[in-house]
Amino acid sequence: MTPETVSHYRILSKLGAGGMGEVYLAEDLNLGRRVALKLLPARFMQDAERVRRFAQEARTAWVQATLAGEYPARSIVRPTAVKPELSSTIVVHPEAAFDKWYQDVSGPPLDLPPVELGQRSYQMRGCTQCHTTDGSKLVGPSFKGFLAREHRLSDGTVVEPSDAYITESILDPTAKVIQGFEPVMPSFKGRLHELEVAGLVAYIKSLP
Ligand code: HEC
Repeated sequence: MTPETVSHYRILSKLGAGGMGEVYLAEDLNLGRRVALKLLPARFMQDAERVRRFAQEARTAWVQATLAGEYPARSIVRPTAVKPELSSTIVVHPEAAFDKWYQDVSGPPLDLPPVELGQRSYQMRGCTQCHTTDGSKLVGPSFKGFLAREHRLSDGTVVEPSDAYITESILDPTAKVIQGFEPVMPSFKGRLHELEVAGLVAYIKSLP
């Protein structure tokens, strides 16, 4: 692509194409910083519904990005000015950096051996508020000797402490409620990496 200047933006490369225009990496010549620029055909601005939809899109901007970084997003209509309401920020994490970010901000390192990962997760995710590993009862049952002891549900049935049961207990805790306890455990569905769930299962099973 030949270098092009639109308004006070110099276009550097194409990031992707969306439903209503094309998105470019550009340099804001006034601020001297990089922005994501979406170019729309001018005729769109005559259509109020389109503009409304576009403002919405600018707030929940999605681009198929090929370059990592953080870009203020500006949507402009050729050949006129930038509309301030059509602005947002697009943050693009490369995949490896995303995994790193995930580990840093939200949990134990995912490359730990499963039992160790599960132990860290047990401590970091607040399981210790309600569960112990020494046999003492808190809000929830202790994990001590998990495989060896009986797991009797509130309806009297006894379940095997299988991987599937432990996983379900973490992701959908009210599906089976242990007798003598209240169904107060929060669901961890969508809050834990699947490796972390597997780690918790391994850790709970490993407890003597
Ligand atoms: C607010 C308290 C609370 C927190 C936090 C909590 N739990 Fe629970 N958990 C309970 C209660 C109460 C039960 C028993 C009732 C039931 O089965 O839902 C339970 C049951 C379980 C069971 C089944 C126990 C058995 O004896 O069969 C597992 C496994 C479990 N929790 C794992 C976890 C893990 C792993 C975490 C952290 C990621 C966690 N829980 C966090 C309260 C909690």
